[in-house]
Amino acid sequence: MRICMVGTGYVGLVSGACFSEFGVTTVCVDKDEAKIARLRRGEIPIYEPGLEDLVSKNVRAERLSFTGDLNSAVRDADAVFIAVGTPSRRGDGHADLSYVYRAAEEIARGFDGYTVVVTKSTVPVGTGREVERIIRGIRPDADFDVCSNPEFLREGSAISDFMRPDRVVIGTESERARAMMGQLYRPLYLIETPVVVTTLETAELIKYAANSFLATKITFINEIADLCEQVNANVHDVARGIGLDGRIGRKFLHAGPGYGGSCFPKDTLALVRTAQDAGAPMRIVETVVDVNRLRKQSMAERIVSACGGSVDGKTIAILGVTFKPNTDDMRESPALEVIPALQAGGAQVRAYDPAGMAEAARLLQGVTWCQNAYEPLDGADAVAIMTEWNEFRALDLKRVKSLLRVPVMVDLRNIYKPPEMATAGFRYTSIGRPAGVATPEQD
Ligand code: UGA
Repeated sequence: MRICMVGTGYVGLVSGACFSEFGVTTVCVDKDEAKIARLRRGEIPIYEPGLEDLVSKNVRAERLSFTGDLNSAVRDADAVFIAVGTPSRRGDGHADLSYVYRAAEEIARGFDGYTVVVTKSTVPVGTGREVERIIRGIRPDADFDVCSNPEFLREGSAISDFMRPDRVVIGTESERARAMMGQLYRPLYLIETPVVVTTLETAELIKYAANSFLATKITFINEIADLCEQVNANVHDVARGIGLDGRIGRKFLHAGPGYGGSCFPKDTLALVRTAQDAGAPMRIVETVVDVNRLRKQSMAERIVSACGGSVDGKTIAILGVTFKPNTDDMRESPALEVIPALQAGGAQVRAYDPAGMAEAARLLQGVTWCQNAYEPLDGADAVAIMTEWNEFRALDLKRVKSLLRVPVMVDLRNIYKPPEMATAGFRYTSIGRPAGVATPEQD
């Protein structure tokens, strides 16, 4: 089988590489000629563990290639995936579908013989029908079906998420398209991955509902963490205590500085707008969006209060700036709120991140960027852990303490335990766990 992946962003590149690994001949297309040239040289424009090897292996096997020529890539394909960006439209929070519709027009002009056009980008309910209408308008007699096939990849573990997903969602009313998608995902049928076959609209909504539910789960535990701080309870144990109930589940119950990234903030907002427009407002998700925004803004205050109420003239060390570990992605990262707020309070900020500093340096001014986890600590008045990179989980605490001017640690990811930090002599604050209280916290 042959497929064409339109868009070599995060979703397109990972999905294209993984389909080629499944044995499908895959051509990835992008308008950005410089990006295509880089990909042809084997340079991967995004940070994703394992992706470079997967791409080079499949390029060598001649199953994966890159081109700027959409027309010829589409002509030979059995299925064409639309994996272009759908950023939040400025002003109203709706997903901007102009790239999707432009891709649909170009695909319409290029394909030959029966073709399945698949939307893989996260698109609001109704977009698949509009893609169908656009193609039908340009090619009234063409033989094609439109299918929605949302992805559930997480940055940092995208390849294993693709290769061993919890489920595959296929939204189409056409038996022919369903059979074609079944062929493409054949290796997953062999490992008995559940496949949800549904209508176009339902598949589109599943994606938004999944991300909004997960964002709600995180926001719920974040608010429980705030309550824990007031009533001397431990959020880690609450999460374990409720998560062991199979109806709730343990995942996505880690309290933190608020969710970020390119997906949850954008998709919750888009679902809110879609629901309002449809006359079925989702008040829970509206609240989640607000609570999370305020939470990210309030994180700097925690650092300020750990420093005795003011950071004026103080030096604050920040460990981790990306929105989560194993990515260089800074989009909607809590660090983008926290660092400017500390600077506005008169602090000098010294920071280190294993992968995000190049991008962060473009977005944040006046920060001293360091080469390792210990360098920013030298002479600092406090250290704040903002991202749970593995290399921050086992710091040499004696060394940390000796480098800091004052042994204050604000752990916004709860990677250390209050009793061990108290024993090590730190003034330690975390999320939803009373400082220094020797609760018998379990893993
Ligand atoms: C998310 C979803 O998890 C994927 O299934 C989905 O495909 C993807 O969005 C998308 O729509 O493309 P991603 O944004 O890569 O993936 O990252 P997550 O691992 O879901 O983390 C999102 C945010 O939630 C991060 O800021 C993370 O720190 C935060 N988080 C996550 C918590 O604060 N607590 C948790 O328990 C889990």
